[in-house]
Amino acid sequence: MRPAEELRTDFPALSQTAHGRPLAYLDNAATTQKPKAVLEAVRSFYERDCANVHRGLYALSVRATEAFESSRRRVADFIGAASPEEIIFTRGTTEAINLIAATAGRSLLQPGDGVLLTEMEHHANLVPWQRLVPSGIRLYFLSVEDDQGTIDWNRVDEMAKKHRIRMLAFTHVSNSLGKVNAAAEICSRARSLGLFTLVDAAQSVGHRHLSVREIGCDFLAFSGHKMCAPTGIGVLYGRRELLELLPPYQTGGEMIAEVRLDQSSWKDPPHRFEAGTPNIGGAIGLRAAIDYLQAVGLDAIERHTASLAAYAASGLAAIPGIRILGPPDRRAGIVSFVLDRVHAHDLVAFLDQEGLALRAGDHCNQPLLRKLGLAATARASFYLYNVREEVDRLVAGVETARRYFAG
Ligand code: ALA
Repeated sequence: MRPAEELRTDFPALSQTAHGRPLAYLDNAATTQKPKAVLEAVRSFYERDCANVHRGLYALSVRATEAFESSRRRVADFIGAASPEEIIFTRGTTEAINLIAATAGRSLLQPGDGVLLTEMEHHANLVPWQRLVPSGIRLYFLSVEDDQGTIDWNRVDEMAKKHRIRMLAFTHVSNSLGKVNAAAEICSRARSLGLFTLVDAAQSVGHRHLSVREIGCDFLAFSGHKMCAPTGIGVLYGRRELLELLPPYQTGGEMIAEVRLDQSSWKDPPHRFEAGTPNIGGAIGLRAAIDYLQAVGLDAIERHTASLAAYAASGLAAIPGIRILGPPDRRAGIVSFVLDRVHAHDLVAFLDQEGLALRAGDHCNQPLLRKLGLAATARASFYLYNVREEVDRLVAGVETARRYFAG
């Protein structure tokens, strides 16, 4: 991998200061910064190729359509999908999971069927499923046993024998604990029990090598903005034979085959699920982000972020009164922590004055934090452009905060 110090220069936002200090952007689990290559791809689309897709018979629209569909092919190739028809563009992970929950709730799942989730899910992979409960779908949960994020996956068998579970939906990487779940093993177990699987890959695509073929999942959701692409673009991957069975999510232009005043028929996937004008510029930015990340190297990005997280965890661990959450190993580039007698919001507000950008709060993960007896944590999350010097500033900043609030 090119050194992170050099990669940083590709990201204009990283050269600024915050409160007079060089910005140390450590909130990459919330969103990532964008490299010049992505900014330029989006700009070039709007400057030269901007037209609606799948509608026009003129040169500009043909170019826009080709760019948009070539982004779909690029995404399919990037995540190891069998064909571009398995890639649905959405606004992000949240919309992708809402789409699958709403449409599976009207097709693959029957009243009395169960959806198995974990207590680790962020709200985007919990609340859409809760909305199916009034129509007779039951929700079951695998418990998180400790603040390392331990889950007894053997319980999937037990739960599937005891209840009529049809779907297992789980996060690949926990956004609050940094725990990496063994997606391929889990999906293989679920498949042997006849369950459909959805992997929430919001924190993993673009951060590590990932192939839906290797994982063996039925559905997978992710967001572009957490992997260097613009906000407002994301993906739902679905196995083609299952997508064929799903009804539309939203209706309107683009997704219809024939419309009469009293009824309409739908296009095949993926267009069935893309009503209205899509985020064309976002999809083009996503393709540029994939090109950028592949040139850097996904395995190298995973090693780099895991090494920064391990370095941060060991530095922070030496501070009196600190509690670090998440596993000692199999940790993605995410470190959540709490400091005795200092609210996480006060802590990150203090660190902000030092130019350090971290998230504090429940990380859209209220049930998990409640279970761990916490209202909020501070969270540092790393990406390819973060450097050890920023971690040193973080550890020094937390130690200074501890003394300040103790006094
Ligand atoms: N899910 C995002 C986060 O973890 C917003 O911060």
